[in-house]
Amino acid sequence: MKQSIFMVLAYLQHLMKSGSGHQSDNAFTSDVVKQVIQNQEHHEAYNQIGQLRKRLLQKYQVIESTDFGSGAGNMSYKLKYVRVASIVKSSAISERCGMVLFRLVEYFKPNTIIELGTSVGISTLYLAMPKRDTKVITLEGCTTKSEQAAANFSAMKLENIAQHIGRFDIVLPQVINETPQADLVFIDGNHTYDATMANFNALLQISHPETIFVFDDIHWSAGMQKAWDEISGHERVTLSIDLFRMGIVFLRKEVMRQNLVIRI
Ligand SMILES: C[S@@+](CC[C@H](N)C(=O)[O-])C[C@H]1O[C@@H](n2cnc3c(N)ncnc32)[C@H](O)[C@@H]1O
Repeated sequence: MKQSIFMVLAYLQHLMKSGSGHQSDNAFTSDVVKQVIQNQEHHEAYNQIGQLRKRLLQKYQVIESTDFGSGAGNMSYKLKYVRVASIVKSSAISERCGMVLFRLVEYFKPNTIIELGTSVGISTLYLAMPKRDTKVITLEGCTTKSEQAAANFSAMKLENIAQHIGRFDIVLPQVINETPQADLVFIDGNHTYDATMANFNALLQISHPETIFVFDDIHWSAGMQKAWDEISGHERVTLSIDLFRMGIVFLRKEVMRQNLVIRI
């Protein structure tokens, strides 16, 4: 099935399954839904990131982009010349999902965050801006995109971001070796079943019961759907929240086992 048709069908299913005002008997779960998913509070950082996104959407500079992920098809990587504006338009996190990331950090106050897929850094900003002493470790295979991201981080005067450049299968094991534990993980790169499962299983090694995992594009393709179904049903996962564009899972043992589907 064509990927675009897959996504339309997945979205229709999401509309049928989801509720916007979800209730749960579990105090932890209803707090997450109210305080993180549905919280409408405004933050100045949203304006700052919004303005940067606007500027980047007008940046017509062409850069050499190396794709090691699903976009490379059967090849190990694919070189392309693309405008910064097109990268942001086609692959940066949406404002709505970015704000969910921001509130996850604000609410749970993780000390260490690992992100797979920096691109030019929009999602990293949502992760790094709520709490300037949170260490955000972000991985990206494409050097030129990482350079663009570095410029964006310094424009925002952020010093809590450590960038690692290289393919996930090479760099992630090194990062895992050097990082005692990850409190929040955001996986937004190489959207294939095999890579998503491999990255999830690798990062479970440095997780603890309070670690939160967030996956982007969970209904992007049949492979990503299969990965999400396995992850949300994984023996260590107690609560999963499907927001269509993004899925969040919790490993907390005290939380009632539940798979929520919420429209945001
Ligand atoms: C969807 S984009 C990330 C968007 C970013 N999180 C944001 O919201 O702005 C995915 C990124 O992951 C990178 N990537 C994909 N597969 C990779 C791999 N196997 N190793 C390293 N980087 C990879 C791509 O170069 C791309 O920049």
